Amino acid sequence: MAIAIYPGSFDPITLGHIDIIERGCKLFEKTIVAVLRNPNKSPLFTVEERLQQIRISTAHLSNVEVDSFEGLTVNYARIRSAQVLLRGLRVLSDFEMELQMAHTNKTLAAEIETVFLATSKEYSFLSSSVVKEIARFGGSIDHFVPQHVALDIYKCYAKTQHGQNPTLPETAPRVNLPHPN
Ligand code: PNS
Repeated sequence: MAIAIYPGSFDPITLGHIDIIERGCKLFEKTIVAVLRNPNKSPLFTVEERLQQIRISTAHLSNVEVDSFEGLTVNYARIRSAQVLLRGLRVLSDFEMELQMAHTNKTLAAEIETVFLATSKEYSFLSSSVVKEIARFGGSIDHFVPQHVALDIYKCYAKTQHGQNPTLPETAPRVNLPHPN
């Protein structure tokens, strides 16, 4: 049984990600969910906030580990003695970029395999960006992310209404937040 790295931005984790993690945990000895520390992006949540969200979301799984990394994914995989990079494939449009990434990683580290899992069809439209956009314009995201993550997002956009969140553009529209329960 191999060790798998499930790398990503997870800004924030969605039910689609959790579906992949749960299925990864059945296939691999251990699945390491690895959040990329990417200084070139302006995420909604800090890496530490995302790690905490993922830890809470995966607390029911015994063979999962949550970590962060910098630089190349294959270097991190080597450090963690992982043999597999796990990625979810939602729709055809994902395929081009994912295939390019898989080929690049294979060229950099021939001993590491990328394994794709087809996202369950109920999550095939779901992405972190879609979730943030819905929340930002006042829609309910309760069917797309765990409740604790939905609360974090609602709080974040509530702060934005008062101009307290520097990671979002100042032009972020005022939103009428749905009641979190
Ligand atoms: O959740 P995302 O943003 O689709 O994840 C993309 C991620 C983090 C898997 C990818 O950008 C990545 O592996 N970045 C690390 C840099 C790297 O290894 N690049 C070479 C492969 S393209």
